[in-house]
Amino acid sequence: MSIEFTRRVEAIPVYPAAESYGYEGELTKLASNETPYPPHPAVLEAVQGALGTLNRYPDPTAAVLRRRLADRHGVPQAKVAVGNGSCEILLAAAQAMLEPGAEIVYAWPSFSMYPHLAAMTGARAVTVPLDAAGAHDLDALAREVTVATRIVLVCNPNNPTATALAVEEIDAFVAALPRHVLVIVDEAYVEFSVLQDPDESLRLLDRHPNVVLLRTFSKVYGLCGLRAGYALGPESFRLAVDRVRQPFSVNALAQTAAAEAVRHQDEVERRVERIVIERLHVQDGLAERGLAVTDSQANFSWVALGEDRDEEAVYAGLARRGVIVRGGGALGAPGHLRVTYGTRAENDRFLTALDGALGDG
Ligand SMILES: Cc1ncc(COP(=O)(O)O)c(C=O)c1O
Repeated sequence: MSIEFTRRVEAIPVYPAAESYGYEGELTKLASNETPYPPHPAVLEAVQGALGTLNRYPDPTAAVLRRRLADRHGVPQAKVAVGNGSCEILLAAAQAMLEPGAEIVYAWPSFSMYPHLAAMTGARAVTVPLDAAGAHDLDALAREVTVATRIVLVCNPNNPTATALAVEEIDAFVAALPRHVLVIVDEAYVEFSVLQDPDESLRLLDRHPNVVLLRTFSKVYGLCGLRAGYALGPESFRLAVDRVRQPFSVNALAQTAAAEAVRHQDEVERRVERIVIERLHVQDGLAERGLAVTDSQANFSWVALGEDRDEEAVYAGLARRGVIVRGGGALGAPGHLRVTYGTRAENDRFLTALDGALGDG
């Protein structure tokens, strides 16, 4: 006899964690779409200041953080939900909205957490392939929406392919969908897009009562170690999310750090500028090596290795040289690599290691 788990748990895929955590040597970690820059000094100072009050529970309403986010985005505080990373909001949305008989629609390959949402709730996942350029095919997504659809996920820019849609396209897509369908636009990387001002998408909230914008402190703000994300959308969504998870899910340090980080939008702009420069550098380096990439609007490149190269061999060749990236196989698209932009020194280490790895065979 052994302890028993639900069938649903067996259906939940194991999150494909980056392989960098077990290594002890000098590593260049370009596997998790983190930013290479540490948190802003004022954020670190605020966190230090909060350490002495850790004997108290965090504010379950995250009032200060939510107020600052509301001010920053020009939306009422009632429409701001926060979570233990934006992942928690995704999982809470699934708990609140999905059940057996319900459907969730999303493009694939996309963020590796999405398959968890249907698996953990017994709902049906309907996936739609990306187009040849690695972008969302919104017409094909719309064709999969039925009376049973509760959630459509649009990852913009998309992880792992880095491509982005214009807000106008998403606007037209949502306008044509029935109102019972919630469209979650996952904007984890939106700050890195130069396609248009990242805040253009806020107008989707004014135009559609069934849109949620999901954002995070994990990427451009460099706070993934603390776990804070947020959603802007209908108040009913926030209330539902708050009901299904534990009250103190965003810890005190995460609330403090995120509330301070929001006040430094000039720092966000500086970081984006630096990452965009690194994007051009890495994309040029890849092109010089004859490797095709998608049009990246994020802080990573999606590299097609081509028919003649073995993804696992290239991945292993990079790892042997101390550079950890993501293999496309683990992300649903074998024959690719996803490489996060680091500092200039890290990116050059990657390109040099890549020469070695490509030459190994
Ligand atoms: C598309 C996308 N959404 C959401 C997340 C989750 O981020 P977090 O839970 O750290 O906010 C990630 C993290 O990699 C992501 O790539």
